[in-house]
Amino acid sequence: MINDLPAGLRARRLAEEDHLRVLAVLDAWWGGLKGEAGARERALLLPRLYFQHFTTTSFLVEHGDGEIAAFLVGFLSQTEPGAAYVHFVGVDPALHGQGVGRVLYQAFFALARSHGRRYVHCVTSPENTASQAFHTRLGFTPSAVKPDYDGPGLDRVAFTIDLSAAPTATP
Ligand SMILES: CC(C)(COP(=O)(O)OP(=O)(O)OC[C@H]1O[C@@H](n2cnc3c(N)ncnc32)[C@H](O)[C@@H]1OP(=O)(O)O)[C@@H](O)C(=O)NCCC(=O)NCCS
Repeated sequence: MINDLPAGLRARRLAEEDHLRVLAVLDAWWGGLKGEAGARERALLLPRLYFQHFTTTSFLVEHGDGEIAAFLVGFLSQTEPGAAYVHFVGVDPALHGQGVGRVLYQAFFALARSHGRRYVHCVTSPENTASQAFHTRLGFTPSAVKPDYDGPGLDRVAFTIDLSAAPTATP
């Protein structure tokens, strides 16, 4: 369903059975970012409902043996008919820099376009400089840091890309 992944990886839609398996990799994949507080924050960002009600717009990438290699949780905005939203994305650190994150976003962009969506939004923590560099490289425009955006002490940088100005495939 997604071409251009490195050899040995395959993608499929997310499923409810993936919930605990994805939670189990978050701390390692995020490198323990923001310590205990960060771990709690990440776990709470992925309740089971995403694995029940957002599966048709979310992807899981696996190795041939079924080990999780990457995931992207996204959805079409309910209130903004021209927009889609990437809620959470992660790639196994062993695979960083091989284009897996880009391929997942390109697949999500194609899906969003097929539903008539022009903009894709997402947010990340100001501390997550890798995420900010990645999204900027993909063509997203960052906001200034938004203090307390997701609650007290939960500052965020918001990113938006205009798909009408973005390339349709990996260059
Ligand atoms: C951010 C993340 C998803 C990127 O995935 P990835 O598969 O390594 O990224 P890609 O290989 O597809 O990189 C795409 C582009 O972004 C750039 N990029 C990726 N990570 C980068 C980093 N840490 N610093 C600078 N640029 C980076 C790449 O160089 C590449 O640019 P290029 O087209 O010029 O080669 C991955 O590092 C990750 O899972 N991090 C931990 C979880 C996380 O922070 N998720 C995002 C917040 S929810």
